[in-house]
Amino acid sequence: MSGHGTPVPMTSRQSGPLKGEANAPGDKSISHRSLILGALSIGETRVTGLLEGEDVLDTAKAMRAFGAEVVREESGTWSVHGVGVGGFAEPAQVIDCGNSGTGVRLIMGAMATSPITATFTGDASLNGRPMGRVTDPLALFGARSYGRAGGRLPMTIVGAANPVPVTYTTPVPSAQVKSAVLLAGLNAPGQTVVIEREATRDHSERMLAGFGATITTEDTPEGRVITLTGQPELKPQTIVVPRDPSSAAFPVCAALIVPGSDVLVPNIGLNPTRAGLFTTLREMGADLTYENLREEGGEPVADLRARFSANLKGIAVPPDRAASMIDEYPVLSVVACFAQGQTEMRGVKELRVKESDRIDAMAVGLRAAGITVDEGEDWWIVHGRGHGDVPGGATVASRLDHRIAMSFLILGMATTKPVTVDDASPIATSFPIFEPLMAQLGASITRDNRG
Ligand code: S3P
Repeated sequence: MSGHGTPVPMTSRQSGPLKGEANAPGDKSISHRSLILGALSIGETRVTGLLEGEDVLDTAKAMRAFGAEVVREESGTWSVHGVGVGGFAEPAQVIDCGNSGTGVRLIMGAMATSPITATFTGDASLNGRPMGRVTDPLALFGARSYGRAGGRLPMTIVGAANPVPVTYTTPVPSAQVKSAVLLAGLNAPGQTVVIEREATRDHSERMLAGFGATITTEDTPEGRVITLTGQPELKPQTIVVPRDPSSAAFPVCAALIVPGSDVLVPNIGLNPTRAGLFTTLREMGADLTYENLREEGGEPVADLRARFSANLKGIAVPPDRAASMIDEYPVLSVVACFAQGQTEMRGVKELRVKESDRIDAMAVGLRAAGITVDEGEDWWIVHGRGHGDVPGGATVASRLDHRIAMSFLILGMATTKPVTVDDASPIATSFPIFEPLMAQLGASITRDNRG
């Protein structure tokens, strides 16, 4: 399991042109929600293209612990026999969500309005992350929580026996918080309302509607107002999970910085609340095109073609775009090294409470690789050096963070000297096929000999 066993150091070196098709794995956000909403429906939900990364497998285990039947068939399709809204059983064991903030926060929401008690834990990264942002609104429904100092895991949630509906304005832009409140609202009578000042990914809203809940979204001067009617009977669905744009970002960004590359990434989910990176890259001069734009399972989907981009320039990323590319800043900062001029990333305080403090993790590693980085509490600036002039030659720490590990392995493909990541095992949480997929495109990434 990632981050729990022997570290897996990996080194990436200057790579030949990257060529071919990159089939990114299923979307992590949609995969978690498919299992949780399937577990809250009555009858059989079938899911194809589920991300079989550790984060999602931990959510599958958790759904079994709450009483759903979750089975992977030989074909690779997942079958979920749900217990219905309000039907969760009390788990007999502690729920271990591994590395997954999405898993634990959404599941806490889903169980908080049932008269059951559950204890949650995770790995060292997850147990250091703030849960108060979820337990605060869950308390308004009547749920109680008992965690470590600072609202950290391990934590026990005592679900509300007689939940009341809630109106809640999210204090931080977070789809996890929004989704936890909506999932809790499912088993409260009446209408639960979430107001978000900045729109975040809307997979929960789309999927709740798909499962038959009554849910509306309205853009108002105060922000986006989402209203859910409680106690619906959710109807099982057949779900085809699109490929994850946040994972696709790695082969896409690699192609932009490795000379001569031409990579096609088919079937990428391009929900506008997720696609901010691709808009930003195009503004920087990236040769990135959408082909075959279409709609699948209620989500916009396209094939992305990325080619080496000789004239990248640094830009100021608009802060109001942050939510739509929040997981992509680490890999954007890698592309920024190969641009001319500065890339400014502002309004990104949330990066400090992800699987690691992502501003600090990237700044420290990029500096070791010869790049100048300035930073403040909610901003950072990468000073680009242009193609052919990024030194590398560093060993960097992944800090139990899959996206930090993958970002530095992409960096090393185009630096003068190799880049080593001290532990690449966290990549298995979201992109278990990263190594073979990148190798097949022509990337030179090796597992270091551990003697
Ligand atoms: C996610 C929401 C985001 C994102 C995470 C997945 C989700 O987290 O970083 O990888 O599926 O709802 P926040 O809600 O903390 O922004």
